[in-house]
Amino acid sequence: MSKQFDVIVIGGGPGGYIAAIRAAQLGKNVACVDEWKNAKGGPAPGGTCTNVGCIPSKALLQSSEHFEQANHHFADHGITVKGVSMDVAKMVARKDKVVTQNNEGILYLFKKNKVSFFHGRASFVKPIAPGASSGVQGGYEIKVTGAAEETLVGQQIIVATGSNARALPGAPFDELNILSNDGALRIGAVPKKLGLIGSGVIGLEMGSVWRRLGAEVTILEGLPTFLGAVDEQIAKEAKKAFDKQGLKVELGVKVGEVKTSKKGVSVAWTNAKGEAQALEVDKLIVSIGRVPNTVGLNAEAVGLQLDERGAIVVDGDCRTNLPGVWAVGDVVRGPMLAHKAEEEGVAVAERMAGQHGHVNFNTIPWVIYTSPEIAWVGRTEQQLKADGVTYKAGTFPFLANGRARALGDTTGMVKMLADAKTDEILGVHIVGPMASELIAECVLAMEFRASSEDIARVCHAHPSLSESTKEAALAVDKRTLNF
Ligand code: NAI
Repeated sequence: MSKQFDVIVIGGGPGGYIAAIRAAQLGKNVACVDEWKNAKGGPAPGGTCTNVGCIPSKALLQSSEHFEQANHHFADHGITVKGVSMDVAKMVARKDKVVTQNNEGILYLFKKNKVSFFHGRASFVKPIAPGASSGVQGGYEIKVTGAAEETLVGQQIIVATGSNARALPGAPFDELNILSNDGALRIGAVPKKLGLIGSGVIGLEMGSVWRRLGAEVTILEGLPTFLGAVDEQIAKEAKKAFDKQGLKVELGVKVGEVKTSKKGVSVAWTNAKGEAQALEVDKLIVSIGRVPNTVGLNAEAVGLQLDERGAIVVDGDCRTNLPGVWAVGDVVRGPMLAHKAEEEGVAVAERMAGQHGHVNFNTIPWVIYTSPEIAWVGRTEQQLKADGVTYKAGTFPFLANGRARALGDTTGMVKMLADAKTDEILGVHIVGPMASELIAECVLAMEFRASSEDIARVCHAHPSLSESTKEAALAVDKRTLNF
């Protein structure tokens, strides 16, 4: 006898588990199926973000930043520390504990919201016609295999199966020498030499962790420009800081053959001038983007449409080509960000309940958790130029911010872009301390379609880093008070 649900969510990452909770809050009888296993084989919901992405990487970034501070910056405060050492196993164990706390938090939330959780892999079996079996109002039969062996029937399905790391052709991940985001978070000892392919978000974050711990890091990036999607002025400022730290980034490279041996990994590559080069490293992290994950979903059984990249085809509201089947997060178009997936999950649950869920793709923030942090929302100066928009720009350096000076972290700036005629904020770009937190005010402002003057007129606590946002807003009107 199959178990019947109003909604079955396939995947328990940020898109899936949030959709399940929101649907349950709205009165639906909800199941969530997730196959991720912890080290003991038990359930580990939370997806890539919780298990091998956002959360563990932030744990390692924090540990390695403490190490960096103790080694290089405590002395500025008059603190002498001798014999600083890093116990990598302990650092990794702490990271694992943080992950477990998050897994358990999600299981608790499922219980609290009466979401039925099934630990296993869900795949489509067949569509069910209304009235075809006792009491069923139509929907889809879903088979769960793994720890939980079940047949479920859901009137509506949300697919939130996430993404997998993209491998370099001819260099599959072995998670020993050639590492994905997963292996990059489990390196057991600081490698003497670490190579990374791709200087995107993962490349910079993981490169930073292991550089701080003492590895000699080289990142090979295919594009000729550094952080091409980031506002040029901000990317330039970030690059300057990374160069100073010794994080080596080679731009415009072409990666050739990758060979592994007992000694490590050798990468043949060509530099921007076309000269042949070789990189010999102990470990190689490949961070060249991710591919949507529909493995084992049995999409063919129900005719669920995928595009040429393997992503599930959806409309602006996350509806697939099948009635009652929705898809959210990394497995569909759009940026592969946990918070974008969450927003889509909530919106879908609300649409299912007859509400008007909405995701504003123009106000999705981006954050790179390096030091300095990089965060932005809205359009860059280059995009505004390309779009033919007339704009005013205001910048304010952290060097002129009292709190940043007191913190001893004055790298970077806040840059605000506003419409020349209406003064509406069109983008904010930050490189510097706590950019990840500062960006929230800017997202809120853009969501409310605030003008730069609105921010300039708001009282900001003194001394705080957020005063730099206010000053950047004042700078849009060429009237900064502190610079
Ligand atoms: P990414 O798309 O951020 O960066 C990939 C980089 O690799 C690009 O700069 C690209 O030009 C380069 N590349 C691609 N093919 C190459 C090749 N053959 N040789 C050399 N360079 C090549 O992807 P990444 O860093 O792998 O991250 C994957 C996803 O995870 C992203 O969508 C990212 O947004 C997300 N993520 C988000 C985080 C955050 O929000 N802080 C943290 C980590 C990941």
